[in-house]
Amino acid sequence: MAESIIISGTTKEEKYTSLLAQLKSLAEEPDVYAALGNIISALKYGMDFFWIGLYIVKNNELVLGPFQGTVACTRIGFGKGVCGNAWKNKKTIVVDDVDTFEGHIACSTESKSEIVLPVFGKTGDVLMVLDIDSTRLADFNSMDELKLTEAVHIIESIVNR
Ligand code: SME
Repeated sequence: MAESIIISGTTKEEKYTSLLAQLKSLAEEPDVYAALGNIISALKYGMDFFWIGLYIVKNNELVLGPFQGTVACTRIGFGKGVCGNAWKNKKTIVVDDVDTFEGHIACSTESKSEIVLPVFGKTGDVLMVLDIDSTRLADFNSMDELKLTEAVHIIESIVNR
């Protein structure tokens, strides 16, 4: 199993492609926490995200799981904030300007845009959400959504085995 990641490519898309291949290798670690921790770290440092983390569904709320970045909110209710809405609607949400999203939960005043993707269990229920924040406005587009959906499929392969 790889113990470091090497990102090749100059465009953001090329970097994602290079990184995704290595995420599959990190997913081979049999321990769920070890595998998820490394995947979140690889995404953070590979793509230079400001903040990235998983919020895990526990007792009908989202609880902070493996993350990389500044200290964050620990619990989010169903339908609350961007994360709670992605959970409730079972859909990826891209927010170009967090100030325009009603009910946005600001864990850091530095976050300006955000993408949240649901992570599904075998029966189609949401097990967790992947939340990524940027300090730049409108930093996530359809290409990010496509590539991060591939990353979510790798996370699903870990949590559903
Ligand atoms: N902004 C998120 C809360 C989590 S932090 O961004 C890390 C939300 O509105 O759900």
